[in-house]
Amino acid sequence: MAPTTQRSASTTDPVPKSLNELCTILHHELRDAGIDEMSDVDVARIKRIMESYVSNERDWEEYALFDSCKYTRNLVDDGNGKFNLIVLCWGEGQQSPVHDHSQAHCLMKVLSGNLVETRYAWPEVETDTFEEKPLKCTAVNSAERDNVVYIHDSIGLHRVSNPSPTKKAISLHLYCPPIPSCYTFDEQTGAKRASGTCTFYSHRGKRVQFGCLGGVVNNKVEGPDFETERVKPCNAFQDTMTAFAPACEGQVQ
Ligand code: SIN
Repeated sequence: MAPTTQRSASTTDPVPKSLNELCTILHHELRDAGIDEMSDVDVARIKRIMESYVSNERDWEEYALFDSCKYTRNLVDDGNGKFNLIVLCWGEGQQSPVHDHSQAHCLMKVLSGNLVETRYAWPEVETDTFEEKPLKCTAVNSAERDNVVYIHDSIGLHRVSNPSPTKKAISLHLYCPPIPSCYTFDEQTGAKRASGTCTFYSHRGKRVQFGCLGGVVNNKVEGPDFETERVKPCNAFQDTMTAFAPACEGQVQ
């Protein structure tokens, strides 16, 4: 069903007045199929729609769950298995590991605070040596409240950081299709490793036991993945690896 929203005068883009409306519009725009299956879907249009939603704390406060050890991933909408809309909560100094996006489209909107997106080129493939090389940084982008950043594997790798030592930050991520796992990269050596299953801290505002969904497919929450590797001891100023691992060592989520 088409969302009943106002449309901006200058374009045919729907303008979501709330986070709920944004979810409805995304289901409609992506026709529950996902951008990957629909080469005609305009990523720029989805970006404009996300930009036009004006962040309102009342819409997302139930997802604003922080953890002193790591940034948290809070599932808002599983897109019927075709996309994921996730609220990420970044404590002071927390950041994601450098990672790819498993060929998914990733759009990140800042809901609160400021974030920095650092982009890297893919590591050079060494055919006959195993030489370690630092990743080459290609861009550093600052994003403020309501800004939207887009990345895809065709652009490169990235990490997101909350640079503030005193302020938290919150972002809204659209992954299309959902990313069940990806690769993380060591910034100094370029070494790549499998992430393990991407996990959620909460689902529709409710805390997820063990912090680890095997995945959310067709609205069904699947069981915990005990194979997922543990993270190193927590330190807010290190990579937390939280996106791709269930919990800080010894921490019950
Ligand atoms: C990001 O850095 O883009 C967030 C990764 C995640 O989804 O956990």
